[in-house]
Amino acid sequence: MTRYYAPASTGNFSVGFDLIGLALEPVSGELLGDVLEIRAESSMFSFSQSGRYVHQLPANPEDNLVYICFQAFAQKVASLLPHLVVHLQKNLPVGSGLGSSACSIAVACYAFNEYFKRPLNTAQLLQLMAECEGGVSGSMHFDNVAPSLLGGLQLMLPGSAQICRALPWFAHWRVVVCYPGTVISTKTARDVLPEAVNRATAIEFSGLLARFVSALYEQDENEALASIQDVFAEPHRLALIPELLPLRKKMLEQGIAHLGISGSGPTLFAVCSCEAQAEIAAGLFRSHYEKNADAMTHICQIAEHGARQI
Ligand code: HSE
Repeated sequence: MTRYYAPASTGNFSVGFDLIGLALEPVSGELLGDVLEIRAESSMFSFSQSGRYVHQLPANPEDNLVYICFQAFAQKVASLLPHLVVHLQKNLPVGSGLGSSACSIAVACYAFNEYFKRPLNTAQLLQLMAECEGGVSGSMHFDNVAPSLLGGLQLMLPGSAQICRALPWFAHWRVVVCYPGTVISTKTARDVLPEAVNRATAIEFSGLLARFVSALYEQDENEALASIQDVFAEPHRLALIPELLPLRKKMLEQGIAHLGISGSGPTLFAVCSCEAQAEIAAGLFRSHYEKNADAMTHICQIAEHGARQI
């Protein structure tokens, strides 16, 4: 039996809609991501599943992303592959904003590519993953699959054969994520977005993203923190997550630089510049949300490594 793991991720990081994604790793050492086991070869594809959030997955195995990825992978490598006996441990909530579907896709595609001796290179693998992700969310975006596969803070490079590039980071930053236990599908959260933006918003968005990326390269922490703003998606998604603004006010009062929507929500993420702030953010999240049994809060650091065998 071979076991593979891929980390959760937060897409957008507020400042880079569809263009920035961060791989997450709880400082507690817990695994925050999905695990896939390839148990044997067989005459038929056989799939089973377990894990904290398994109840949120489709009951029919053929509707599961792992099966869809296997078919897409076989088609991409254009060869008759032996069928597999696989088991998914689903540790991430579905429709959470933690890159749950991307995480299952990343661990599955990575595992199949490793198991069958790497017929696809990294760019081909990313392309395949984004196509599978597009099937779920209604449009192709790389900001969850890229960090889940590669780890780190990834900047998407539209039109480039390289697809994405790892950005510098501040090792002492902590990102506290809180999943409130409710579900917002990515498709629903994308449907509320406008098809076009006006000139002022386009300039402000690209200006903030440029400011953030250049501040990371310069390791100018204050500039980087100040530029984490979402002028595109957040104004439209606020109606889906009305608690964001009052919670942000509480966080700002504690000196926490930013609270934003993780991916398409409802998970929120707080960017903290030290452990003490991260503890405060986690406490505020817990007192606000953890009446819900499905809710969870994690103090995270950057996951330097993405999908891997464990
Ligand atoms: N960039 C995507 C969105 C991420 O915000 O719609 C989805 O998790």
